[in-house]
Amino acid sequence: MAAQLLDGKALAAELRHQLQQQIKSQTDQGIRPPGLAVVLVGQDPASQIYVRNKRKACEDVGILSKAYDLPASTSEEELLSLLDQLNTDEIIDGILVQLPLPAHINAEMVIERIVPHKDVDGFHPYNVGRLALRMPLLRSCTPKGVMSLLAKANLNLDGLDAIIIGQSNIVGRPMALELLAARCTITVCHSRTRDLQHKVRQADLVVVAIGKPEFVRGDWIKPGAIVVDVGMNRLAEGKLVGDVDFVGAAQQASWITPVPGGVGPMTIASLLENTVISYQSSTKQ
Ligand code: GUN
Repeated sequence: MAAQLLDGKALAAELRHQLQQQIKSQTDQGIRPPGLAVVLVGQDPASQIYVRNKRKACEDVGILSKAYDLPASTSEEELLSLLDQLNTDEIIDGILVQLPLPAHINAEMVIERIVPHKDVDGFHPYNVGRLALRMPLLRSCTPKGVMSLLAKANLNLDGLDAIIIGQSNIVGRPMALELLAARCTITVCHSRTRDLQHKVRQADLVVVAIGKPEFVRGDWIKPGAIVVDVGMNRLAEGKLVGDVDFVGAAQQASWITPVPGGVGPMTIASLLENTVISYQSSTKQ
């Protein structure tokens, strides 16, 4: 393997340690700990695992995690009314509603109901708009985690040709805004994009977030490129793989994220960071 690893597991552990110290220094002075409300509607197995990991990470650093596990039959009105309560709850600094929501609930309406200063997922139009205008406050967790990983490796992004495969609200779009703010030239690709392989070949930085196992092949990657794989797919035989053919791409790339242990842990670390940012602005005198 020629590429160096962008080790999200190690960086996330370092960030968690820093956050834990920061929280401890506040609670040692008698200030309340940060609080994160984690709302899960229904029983999607993948969401249950993500939520369990987020709650555990909170507890590890000293964030009070309040669990709201609601049945799939919860009405939109009931969920909105819970959010209204959490919006004004003084011990809650962050509110996270795990996506996807059941089909009868309008996710956009739910996201907009969270007060922007408690939107620790960074999904509210206010927070996305701030990022678009280069004045970010709470930044979407996965793209923020990717930027932290790239910064940790001291990679100079200035002027790079970056390609993002996937145009979701959670990853692709905010990722484009992050990389644009970092002065990359951005191409965002999706299911209608023509000649994807050719476009990937030109790119100095490739971010893939489409949920298709090993879709991007190693020989698509320009020699020396940086490869960030946001995918997390379980194959029939149980193996966890990303959206990139890791072995092939690692022979071409200069830097690459592993799956698991790359972007996944950084998403959670960013959520904890956002919760502490929100906490510090609400507890400061
Ligand atoms: N579903 C998939 N990723 C995420 C995430 O980062 N936050 C929330 N709330 N839901 C998700």
